[in-house]
Amino acid sequence: MKRLLFFAPILFLPFAWSAVAQDGDFKPGKLPKEEQALLEPGLTLRFFADKNAKTPTDVRRVRIAALHVPEGTAPTPFVGPGPFAAKLSGYLKADLRSEFRFKLKALGKASLRINNKEVLAAEDGVAQTEEPFELSRGFNKLDIVLVSPMKGDATVRVSWTGDDFMEEPLPPTTLFSRKDHADLAEGLAKREGRFLFAMRDCAACHQLPGGVKSAELAMPEMQHRAPSLAGAGSRFGKDWLVQWIQNPRTLRPKATMPVVLHGDTVPQDAADIAAFLQTLKEPVEAAKAKATTAQGEKLYNQLGCLACHHFNDPKEEETLDRYPLHYVNAKYTPEALSEFLAKPHARYPWTRMPDFKLKADENAALVAYLNAQAKGKANPGAQAGNPERGEKLFASTGCANCHSLKTDALPKGTNLRPSPASDNLAAGCLAEDAKERGKAPDFGFAKEKRESLRAFLAKDGGSLKRETPAEFAQRQIVNLKCNACHQRDGATTRWFQVMEEEGGSLPELLPSLTWTGEKLKPDWSAKFIAGQHDHRARPWLKARMPAFPARAEMLALGLSHQHGFAPKEDSRPEPDEEQAKLGETLLPQQGGFNCTQCHGVGKMPAKEPFEAPGINLLDAAQRLRYDYYPRWMHDPPRIERTTRMPKFAQDGKTTAIRETLDGDARKQFDAIWHYIQTLPGKKD
Ligand code: HEC
Ligand code: HEC
Ligand code: HEC
Ligand code: HEC
Ligand code: HEC
Repeated sequence: MKRLLFFAPILFLPFAWSAVAQDGDFKPGKLPKEEQALLEPGLTLRFFADKNAKTPTDVRRVRIAALHVPEGTAPTPFVGPGPFAAKLSGYLKADLRSEFRFKLKALGKASLRINNKEVLAAEDGVAQTEEPFELSRGFNKLDIVLVSPMKGDATVRVSWTGDDFMEEPLPPTTLFSRKDHADLAEGLAKREGRFLFAMRDCAACHQLPGGVKSAELAMPEMQHRAPSLAGAGSRFGKDWLVQWIQNPRTLRPKATMPVVLHGDTVPQDAADIAAFLQTLKEPVEAAKAKATTAQGEKLYNQLGCLACHHFNDPKEEETLDRYPLHYVNAKYTPEALSEFLAKPHARYPWTRMPDFKLKADENAALVAYLNAQAKGKANPGAQAGNPERGEKLFASTGCANCHSLKTDALPKGTNLRPSPASDNLAAGCLAEDAKERGKAPDFGFAKEKRESLRAFLAKDGGSLKRETPAEFAQRQIVNLKCNACHQRDGATTRWFQVMEEEGGSLPELLPSLTWTGEKLKPDWSAKFIAGQHDHRARPWLKARMPAFPARAEMLALGLSHQHGFAPKEDSRPEPDEEQAKLGETLLPQQGGFNCTQCHGVGKMPAKEPFEAPGINLLDAAQRLRYDYYPRWMHDPPRIERTTRMPKFAQDGKTTAIRETLDGDARKQFDAIWHYIQTLPGKKD
């Protein structure tokens, strides 16, 4: 059912909200130093059972002043579906004391308070301030409340307009909230515990917590399974296997696989299991091409491998949190390394290593380079191994609970232990020391991680039955290190940091992910992140977007929800022939803006894209949400500080082309939009 949106200028619908009534005196502007030190980017989002409730049912942090919860879905995994009230609070930071206009969009009933004053209220519609509202320079208190509607999706979005910029969502770089609130810390801890429970395969050996049945699982990461060990004997070095089995963390300090062997027999047990794995043979296919180390080095730098990897001995400190490749030759045969790079997800669908879709010659070049750079040698195992004994140990020590020995087959969790219950959360895998741990695997958890797992297991097992895409996107963007290549919310990239620290040429300009959830249609981004598009949006780049197939769809959906958008929501107007005709005249140099200098248009390539190539406008029309388009067109550098696309409306309203549509920027850009929207039909 489509909701009717109406405009309601200064519509004051104050509604009782007891949890919000914490006015006190707040003085906008400068905050005491101690309080500033406690701020982190983003707003604190609290959920309540209803608008009169005093204690939140769940708390987390969001990066955008927005929320979208589809009808019948859980607003967070820790709260069941159904009616809810939500409050986003924190500070809105203004660079200067200045006046702004605000706009509030709501499905449900929402209000916007700034510095403890109600500025806007809206119900199932849009409200905007008629008079400008003055913000103090520095920190202004911000509270946004949403009460979900009786029926339909719940949504809230807040945007602002300033003297020198057109309407835009409140930028993430202006939002802050305190990190020291106990309820927030608790909300974040149980989330970390839930994530660890899934990613560390606890359910491979333990029953699910909270009486959850496997058919009910909704958290995508619960599909995580350790890599298949099919063909391990044709792929891995023997010494490396022995050392890895004894203790993976000696080869990789952040290995997620636990130490499972115990006692005096460890060296012999490890040798036996390794000997068993050595018997598992399978043909391994290497890329058939010749290449040099120098070609590999070039690719390693151009593709951004160096943003996530280094070759140092992992014993040395690594400040940029990159994954060590020091032992990669001790681990893989050159053929197996080639196979891994060609299809990193083949034996480990949930691997965090993305798929670069390397061509055979690129693959061979990278293998040559890695072979030359990775110097680590595993300790030679002293014992000879007994494969028959190893096979038994593989089953009895728990390897088989996590690893299958066939590609495409899931490991079978056998002899499952009971789910860790609230009265034994300090024992076994969560024990403080080796003595208490007994025969349980050693995951090497730091204290906070154990506490997070306990917080989750104590009462939140049921959350595995629910998922909230916005949260999935939030945690996976961190887990997958998208910030290796992409800026986001004002933070620089790891790639840039590496080049600054180690020297070398700075990375190319890549799109930032700050606005992705609003900018791109989720259908398009889901296919893009999965690596399914047949052509590249930016063919001029040496870097390339690698594929993350297992997570693509929910990542794209979750990003859209983070920005308060339903996936199909797009206010694009029906193409209008008259306007499209005008728009066409605005593209070329003659009589127009010379967009075609940098942008291809359908089959017509860009005329002189050398300095500042842009995306083919046919692609743009297909992938962009219309909501984003005008604000990009009005002021590209405001959105992407380093972009080379010029600002055509210097005063934000008019352009230099006066003869069409009276130089009205908004009308002209709209006319162009109508034209590029009609392109697909005109292509043939
Ligand atoms: C490879 C199998 C395996 C995996 C995976 C595993 N455990 Fe265990 N866990 C055990 C075994 C075996 C014990 C009992 C040790 C003993 O009896 O001394 C145990 C014991 C425990 C205990 C003590 C209570 C009890 O049931 O005995 C807790 C709590 C626990 N595990 C939590 C976890 C958590 C949390 C994870 C995921 C991070 C996890 N386990 C993953 C095998 C496993
Ligand atoms: C966004 C970060 C990222 C980028 C970029 C990246 N990798 Fe990885 N790579 C990883 C992670 C994380 C792993 C570890 C696998 C896991 O944890 O699932 C990995 C694993 C590997 C491994 C296997 C290591 C092992 O011990 O088994 C190799 C080899 C590798 N990457 C090479 C490359 C090359 C070559 C490139 C550039 C073409 C590259 N990676 C780019 C994140 C990345
Ligand atoms: C709790 C689940 C778990 C258990 C139990 C476990 N592993 Fe692993 N293992 C993993 C994960 C996850 C990885 C991927 C590397 C990482 O992230 O540490 C891995 C990696 C490996 C690898 C390298 C595979 C590759 O493709 O890179 C081998 C070999 C291996 N494990 C063997 C074993 C053996 C042998 C045992 C029993 C002694 C065992 N594992 C027990 C989870 C487990
Ligand atoms: C190794 C570097 C690298 C990593 C890691 C990476 N990307 Fe990208 N990404 C790129 C490049 C290069 C492009 C531009 C590709 C093009 O348009 O042809 C891009 C483009 C994008 C775009 C399109 C943005 C736009 O406005 O056009 C999205 C969305 C995106 N990436 C999402 C992600 C997500 C999500 C992750 C993490 C799961 C990620 N990327 C990790 C290199 C990377
Ligand atoms: C001097 C070169 C240049 C000119 C002239 C130019 N652009 Fe751009 N345009 C760019 C660049 C560079 C980008 C950003 C590409 C990127 O994100 O990597 C861009 C991005 C865009 C986008 C966003 C596309 C997307 O899918 O992300 C649109 C829409 C766009 N331009 C439209 C226009 C229109 C319409 C004109 C003429 C009024 C124009 N541009 C003129 C260089 C130019």
